[in-house]
Amino acid sequence: MKQKLKRVFQCQSCGFISPKWLGKCPDCGAWNSFVEETLMGGKHSQGFTDTESVSPLPISSIEINNSERISTHIGELDRVLGGGIVKGSLILIGGDPGIGKSTLLLQATNNIARKYGKVLYVSGEESSTQIKLRAERVGAISENILLLSETLVEKILNCASEIQLTALVIDSIQTVYTEEAISAPGSVSQIRESAVKFMNFAKSTGVPVFLIGHVTKEGAIAGPRVLEHLVDTVLYFEGDRGYAYRVLRSVKNRFGPTNEIGVFEMSSSGLIEVENPSLIFLSEHTQNSGSAITATVEGTRAILAEIQALVAPSNFGMPRRNFIGVDYQRVNLLVAVLEKRGRINLAGADIFVNVVGGLKITEPAMDLAVISAIVSSFRDIPLPEGLVIFGELGLSGEVRAISQPELRLKEASRIGMKEAIIPKSNFERLKESFHLKIQGVRSINELIEIIGNYS
Ligand code: TYD
Ligand code: MG
Repeated sequence: MKQKLKRVFQCQSCGFISPKWLGKCPDCGAWNSFVEETLMGGKHSQGFTDTESVSPLPISSIEINNSERISTHIGELDRVLGGGIVKGSLILIGGDPGIGKSTLLLQATNNIARKYGKVLYVSGEESSTQIKLRAERVGAISENILLLSETLVEKILNCASEIQLTALVIDSIQTVYTEEAISAPGSVSQIRESAVKFMNFAKSTGVPVFLIGHVTKEGAIAGPRVLEHLVDTVLYFEGDRGYAYRVLRSVKNRFGPTNEIGVFEMSSSGLIEVENPSLIFLSEHTQNSGSAITATVEGTRAILAEIQALVAPSNFGMPRRNFIGVDYQRVNLLVAVLEKRGRINLAGADIFVNVVGGLKITEPAMDLAVISAIVSSFRDIPLPEGLVIFGELGLSGEVRAISQPELRLKEASRIGMKEAIIPKSNFERLKESFHLKIQGVRSINELIEIIGNYS
C-alpha cells in the first residue's frame, strides 16, 4: 500500500500536533517547541478496514501468570521497581545527561547476566570500547553481557529475537530510529514509534526492556515524557551532578507503589546503594542556628533530612530569595504566613533555604521544619540536638495533620532522635511514644514560642 505523507508541526515536549507552526504549545504551554515533522498516513489511519478478526475473553478465564520477578540484585533498584523486574515489562529510566543512567543499567545488566542469562545492551551513544571501559570500572565483565552499537530499531529487534535473552537495554531511546517514521532520531514521532516497537517486542517475547531517556530542562530535545503513558514503569534519576548522591524515583509503576525512592552514591567504581539514607543526609549535621531536621515519607519509607536556612539583612532594595531542594512557591507562601501570622518581619531580609545532600522534598509535611529553620536563623537560636519537626502549615497559620506520622516517628527513633514537634491533631491520635519526647503544636505561633524557649 502506498503510504500518504503528511507534513505537520509537532510539539517536541508533549507531542501535540498542529497544522501550523506555533510559538507556544496550547497543550503543555512549552515555548518554541514546534518542529516540522512528516507523519505517515495510511497504516495508522486504516481504522476499521483491518479484517483480521479478534475475539474477547471472559475475565474469569484469564490466568494471571504470577510473574515471578527478575532481581537486579541492587536492592534499591529492585524496591523502586516494586520488587524486581516483571517479565515482559517496558521500563523507562529518565534523567539529566551524566546523572548515571548508563552506569546503573550496566551494573544491573551485570547482575542479571550472572544470575539469569544473556542481556543485550544496545548503545546508540557510545562505542563498544567506551562501554567496555565503563564496564571495567564497575566490574561488569561477563560472557552473558552482549553489546551492540546500533541505532536502527528493526536491526536491533532482529538481533534480539535471535538470542535467548533475559533482558534488553536500549541506551538511549533518543538515539534510535525506525524506518517507519521519517523524521530525525530524537523527534517525538521517532521516539514514540520506536518505543511502540520495543513494547511489542517485550509483550510478545516476555523479555523486559529498559529504555534510557534524556530529559532536558528546556524540553528542546523530545523529552521522554511523551512515553510515560506507553510504558509500564517510569523511573526518574535525579540529583545534582555536584553531589555524589542520586535518587531514583518511580513516578509510574503498573507493578508496584509509586513515589518509591532508591538512594545511591556515585563512587569511582560505579553506583553504591545507600541502605540507610537518613544517616547519610544527617551525617554532617551541626548544631548551628538555621538547621532543622524533618522526616519525609518517600513511597513506603521515611527518611530524615536536614533543612538549612540562612536569613541575613539584604543589601539590595530587592531581597533575594533562593530555595534549593524545596518547592519555590511553597516556601514563598510559608514566608508570607510567617510574616503575617507569625508577626516576624522578613521584608528586608535575604532568605536562603537548602535541603542538604541534593535531596528534593515536595511534600507539605516539611513546612514546619522550613519555618523552624528560618526562625532559628533569624533569631540566631540553635535548635536542640535530636529534634525532628514535621507538619503542614495552613494559610491562616494553623498546623495541619499529615499522613503517616508513625512511620516518621519510628524512623526518627531508630536514628536516635530524642524529641519531636508534630501537628497536635496527629499527636492526639498517636498510640505509641516511640521513646521520643513528642510535642503537638496547633499553630505557627505555638511553634515560634517553643523555638523561643530554646534560647
Ligand atoms: P553515566 O552513567 O554515563 O550517565 P548517563 O548515562 O546518565 O548520561 O555516568 C556519568 C557520570 O558518572 C560521569 O560523569 C562519570 C561518573 N562516573 C563515576 O563517577 N564513577 C563511575 O564508576 C562511573 C562509571 C561513572
Ligand atoms: Mg549514558
